[in-house]
Amino acid sequence: MCGIVGYTGDSNATIPLLEGLARLEYRGYDSAGISILADGKITTAKRAGKLAVLVAALKEKSLPNGQVGIGHTRWATHGSPIDRNAHPHLDPDGKVALIHNGIIENYHSLKVALENQGHDFSSDTDSEVVAHLLGAEYSRVNDLTAAMEKVCKQLQGNFSLVAIAVDSPGTLVGARRNSPLVVGLGDGANFLASDVAAFISFTRRALEIGQNQIVTLTASSYSITNFDGEAQNAREFEVTWDASAAEKNGFPHFMAKEIMEQPKALADCLLGRIDEKGQLALNEVRVSDDELRDIEKIIIIGCGSAFHAGMIAKYGIEHWSRIPVEVELASEFRYRDPIITRNTLVLAISQSGETMDTLMALRHAKEQRAKVISICNTHGASIPRESDGVVYTQAGPEIAVASTKAFLTQIVAAYLVGLYLAQVRGIKFVDEVRDILEELDEMPTKIERYLETSERLKELAEEFQSAQSILFLGRHVGYPVALEGALKLKELAYMHAEGFAAGELKHGPIALIEEGTPVLVVMPSPHSPLHDKMLSNVQEIQARGARAIIIASESDLAIADPRAIRIPDAPVLFQPLLAVLPLQLFAYESAVIRGYDVDQPRNLAKSVTVE
Ligand code: M6R
Repeated sequence: MCGIVGYTGDSNATIPLLEGLARLEYRGYDSAGISILADGKITTAKRAGKLAVLVAALKEKSLPNGQVGIGHTRWATHGSPIDRNAHPHLDPDGKVALIHNGIIENYHSLKVALENQGHDFSSDTDSEVVAHLLGAEYSRVNDLTAAMEKVCKQLQGNFSLVAIAVDSPGTLVGARRNSPLVVGLGDGANFLASDVAAFISFTRRALEIGQNQIVTLTASSYSITNFDGEAQNAREFEVTWDASAAEKNGFPHFMAKEIMEQPKALADCLLGRIDEKGQLALNEVRVSDDELRDIEKIIIIGCGSAFHAGMIAKYGIEHWSRIPVEVELASEFRYRDPIITRNTLVLAISQSGETMDTLMALRHAKEQRAKVISICNTHGASIPRESDGVVYTQAGPEIAVASTKAFLTQIVAAYLVGLYLAQVRGIKFVDEVRDILEELDEMPTKIERYLETSERLKELAEEFQSAQSILFLGRHVGYPVALEGALKLKELAYMHAEGFAAGELKHGPIALIEEGTPVLVVMPSPHSPLHDKMLSNVQEIQARGARAIIIASESDLAIADPRAIRIPDAPVLFQPLLAVLPLQLFAYESAVIRGYDVDQPRNLAKSVTVE
């Protein structure tokens, strides 16, 4: 939800800022803007539309060559995506420019107070209110850091902010509460950004900025304080991937690349999980084995695809650890007054580690004294930082808005937690856990084998391109796969799609089936007791005219249909890692055929940092 980047160094700031914005565009892409401080003056260019619109405008009329500046790519919350609502926002004197990611909940009362003092606003945003407040404080105290401290104390809500001021050449001041902000420490240049991707081609050295902290950055120094001006420490870390991981590398879209990266992502997710004694080891879990032995209930929370990954993981975790698991949408969790004790383990799943619904649910769980372990793909993000422990999915950067490799690795990482619990509690012997891990180790090769022969999905997308609605059916672990297939089609191809538990069909949804209705069916593995029941469900829909496309294991001889999509055989609990692949490809191809923007679907953003 909005990408922010600031640069201070010795080059023309527009260049690194535009590069940073291009890498952050996944966070929001309805408008973009840059402010540059040069010759004692701030000059701003901002445009509604994707970054390309701003780039074209800057080709016509470039910004001055200044060595400090800020840039923003927006996902609108307050005010529609039009030029004047784009960031940066300025104070009335044009002395301070500011970019913001998040929501200022008390912006209305602050705005009214400023209006009563004679302020006129040129946008409908909450962010401009902060720019005006900062300008007013800055003119009083003449110190951008001190002004930022005063302003942050007045704000309610979530924010990461970065500002520049005409009388503070070479300086960026950033602040954060509940929204991400990292420092990039370069050679002769430093950066502030929502995500390390923004500066990865310049430096891999980064600093985490903590909650309620302010950072003052020049090209050669940084200092960190809290909102009371007290000095704070920060943890430096090295980003483990390089710029090429965040490039398309010859693929037409990031999503295509990320789908094809899934074998490697899964292999990386499994790397380093066995210790020298041959036992499963989850190094960053940081919840003691004694505490894990006392766990009586697990609650998995997540949103969107992360929620679906949790639904699948429930089957494995309960099966192996024998601990009851509930799975809940993070956005609903804290509002139902869930029963949580110190013996509850909450597993928070999030690729970005910044999803506000999940972060708030996690905090609620911690307040009730639950243990929280997160499953996350982004080092140093808020969710892993606030958890007792974390299992990183190690999937590498996921840029496309649609989750693919993150989804697969979330399932596996959550399975690892289930197996670890089984091992610690003595429900499974070490060698039994190792046997399961060996089967898991075979999955990257199977995924690769399927992806090499996946051409058919394009034809299928063409065949169904004018369908009014597409249904997805699954049972057991295949049910969340069906939900995930429908979510992918909705978000990428803007088609009506629904996923159903096939057993539930006859209780209502079967009324949707009419002559020609396309239905994608995730057939349970032939080893599953549900296989034959699903065969009956297929017959029921075909008898009512459905065009069923069946996704079945290679060895499933009960499926004679030559149109069936075949996936390699796999153990029942691992089948979702294969069955979801044709559904990802189907959604991808459907969006391409329609000419939609696959990596940046309308109305969406990669990381949803508002509730
Ligand atoms: O970063 P998170 O994993 O917390 O994101 C959760 C959802 O917003 C995300 O999975 C979303 O549903 C995807 N765009 C689906 O492809």
